[in-house]
Amino acid sequence: MDQIVDQNSRNIFGMVVRKNTHKDIRRLKKQLGVATIHGNKFWMSTSLLIDYLQVNPPKPQMKILEIGCGWGIGGIYCAKNYQCEVTLLDADATVLPYAQYHADINEVSINTLQLRYEKITKAMLGEYDMVIASDICFWDEMVKPLKLLVDRCYNSGVQRVVMTDPGRQPFRDMAIQCMEKYAAFYENWSAPHPYNTSGLVLDIG
Ligand SMILES: C[S@@+](CC[C@H](N)C(=O)[O-])C[C@H]1O[C@@H](n2cnc3c(N)ncnc32)[C@H](O)[C@@H]1O
Repeated sequence: MDQIVDQNSRNIFGMVVRKNTHKDIRRLKKQLGVATIHGNKFWMSTSLLIDYLQVNPPKPQMKILEIGCGWGIGGIYCAKNYQCEVTLLDADATVLPYAQYHADINEVSINTLQLRYEKITKAMLGEYDMVIASDICFWDEMVKPLKLLVDRCYNSGVQRVVMTDPGRQPFRDMAIQCMEKYAAFYENWSAPHPYNTSGLVLDIG
């Protein structure tokens, strides 16, 4: 890994994550154009998600769906460390090659899927044990679809849903609605040095 972590890359919990200045990322951007719904980089809420999962890990080999994956580092971490079978889903097709690229350089196998989370059916969710996400509830209009998605997860036998957020109001509104209905852990969480980030964790199940 030393060879591929250079000044244009980061080591995030033992994974290589490129910066936007890295030549491979610049090449992908040239080929693919720009992400349209903020999936243009690795967001710090992923560090929060991974730090939380280190303390409260998924069961080995679980089938995990990461929604609003962006570069997919949360799911890639689960595939690498817990041998989970991971699908990385995003509404924006542009981000999926970046996720695949990061899976490749971190030597894990993943599936990708272009779909809005509003469109994920109960039948699809029935294929998964766990759903994870970081920083995907940033507009008011995302509150209702995400709460409905949590309902579908519950009704289709998904064992656990874990989401993190820097602390935006739409995420708080969605989390409170889930808390009122389900057994859930909803708390502040901090990932210490070198990640130095804090926010909220919602863990339902
Ligand atoms: C702020 S980025 C976070 C990306 C990644 N989870 C991270 O933490 O680095 C939000 C991501 O959610 C995706 N997204 C937004 N609305 C979505 C929707 N309705 N369905 C699926 N993905 C969505 C965006 O395309 C983007 O990749």
